[in-house]
Amino acid sequence: AAKMPLRGKKCLVTAGPTHEAIDPVRFIGNHSSGKMGMAIALDLADRGAEVFLIMGPSALNQPHDLIERIDVVSAMDMKNAVDEYITSVDIAVFSAAVADYRPATVSDHKIKKATDTLSIELVKNPDILAGVGAMQKPPYLVGFALETNNEMEHAFAKAEKKNTDLLVLNSMRDEEAGFNKDTNKITLIRRDKSSREFPAKSKVEVAKDIVDEILKDIM
Ligand code: PMT
Repeated sequence: AAKMPLRGKKCLVTAGPTHEAIDPVRFIGNHSSGKMGMAIALDLADRGAEVFLIMGPSALNQPHDLIERIDVVSAMDMKNAVDEYITSVDIAVFSAAVADYRPATVSDHKIKKATDTLSIELVKNPDILAGVGAMQKPPYLVGFALETNNEMEHAFAKAEKKNTDLLVLNSMRDEEAGFNKDTNKITLIRRDKSSREFPAKSKVEVAKDIVDEILKDIM
């Protein structure tokens, strides 16, 4: 039982990138592999939680008896899946790299090469995490912040705006952090604005540190 502290708890994890369709053969995406989110889902499940893993397009496949995987493509798909599961969970971790914008219209045929320049109008996607943070009774909420500059300032602003209990900051400036790497280097920011910087570790170890921190708060 000591090793299964999350038995009976339900968790939602978002992971991976989103793909925003331009036409039937093209999309706007990003370099997230899903490794960070998958490691968190596995760690939560290893500690006894039932996990709903809502995952954008990713080549990863690491099944676990306690993980139900919901595959999605776009940010809107991810939001719809989150809406479906969020009210039934105790803990939600938002590690996905969600596209902030999507094409205003999706062409129903392959866009032909013609003009020298081509513009695609983009419209804002809903901020899934902020939406959950604004719920009347949100679950214990963990957000991520991927920054390139003024990291702490931006991360504190995100924690406040998205109403997170725990915010995981990682910086593109760190060699060991970011998309598709097997390592990450994080700073955890708590609701009381205290912060703790961790050394670079494998994403599996980083996931453990994050879940340890969650447990301190909810147990
Ligand atoms: O998948 P890997 O290759 O292992 O890479 C891991 C990672 C770099 C993707 C991961 O560690 C990470 O930083 N994930 C968050 C990436 C991101 O998009 O950060 P952001 O600062 O833009 O978003 C802030 C938070 O809001 C995130 O929790 C994000 O999931 C959430 N968000 C953002 C936009 C949106 N429309 N909806 C959201 O829920």
